[in-house]
Amino acid sequence: MKIGIIGAGNVGSTLAFKILNDNLADVALVDINADLAIGKALDLNDASGVFGLDKKAVGSDSYQVIEDADLIVVTAGFPRKPGMSREDLLLKNAGIIKEVITKIKKVNSKAIIIMVTNPLDVTTYLAYKVSGFDRKRVFGMAGVLDSARLAVILSEELKKDLADINSMILGTHGDSMVPLKSKIIIEDKNVLEIIDEPAVDALLEKAKTQGGRIVAHLKGGSAYYAPATSVYKMIDVIVNDKKEILPVSVYLEGEYGLSDVCLGVPVRLSKNGIEEIIEVDLTQAENNKLKSANEVIKSGIAKVMNV
Ligand code: APR
Repeated sequence: MKIGIIGAGNVGSTLAFKILNDNLADVALVDINADLAIGKALDLNDASGVFGLDKKAVGSDSYQVIEDADLIVVTAGFPRKPGMSREDLLLKNAGIIKEVITKIKKVNSKAIIIMVTNPLDVTTYLAYKVSGFDRKRVFGMAGVLDSARLAVILSEELKKDLADINSMILGTHGDSMVPLKSKIIIEDKNVLEIIDEPAVDALLEKAKTQGGRIVAHLKGGSAYYAPATSVYKMIDVIVNDKKEILPVSVYLEGEYGLSDVCLGVPVRLSKNGIEEIIEVDLTQAENNKLKSANEVIKSGIAKVMNV
């Protein structure tokens, strides 16, 4: 098993460290900055050596190192700076994603691609279109991260055990995220049986703005431990063929009444990628929010198709 990671920056190198530290797969890091990729690979191999782990990393600015990768994670691009929304990254990162996916396709047409670069749902759409791969093999990480952020906030605010909290966030990775209030379950109860709706809304807002708070503190970049760990969770389900249901951004062809757009929805993941897209029942309010998310992402897509 070999995992290619495009972008050896904060998210990419943290993910590489987690994969190697768990001895899950070999890693190939590709970055426009060859020295960064090479230096990180050397350091990662020394780290594996500390515990005698045998999986290895290589670093390069050449895509040849990912020609035999089973899975490729794309983190190349700019992160947010204070005051920027994920959508502000749109034009800068769209050009990078088109270039990266074109280069991946030249050397490897069999791998599963997981997108991480923001704005996530638009870059996932670009990756799907430019690669021409089956949609089962091109999807994006956002819902796992957003759902984890919400669970952490619910656990802290309501003094509940994280293990007893189940939540799922769909829609976009951004202001138009769609938290399924009807499916936030804490110790077998719906959250609305524990606190009232305005209180739930306040916690959801906190989850939505968590990434922005981290950007404001870090000043020079955006979150990476939780994003990298969220991608790792998806990789673990895929590599170990666990067939678990996770929220991921995927190209829709009529599911939820939407098409020609990438949005976060629950899917069953297996070693082949997306096994099935799950259509859960939504309340009218949740459905309306998903429709608004669709409009937002479609306007983003329209801006980048000719970049
Ligand atoms: N080809 C390959 N690598 C590139 C290219 C390119 N065309 N352009 C930029 N990169 C590399 C940079 O050299 C850098 O090492 O992408 C890396 C990005 O790393 P960071 O700047 O540390 O950003 P990071 O925090 O990892 O975030 C990357 O993931 O979560 C999202 O919003 C985040 O879009 C951002 C992405």
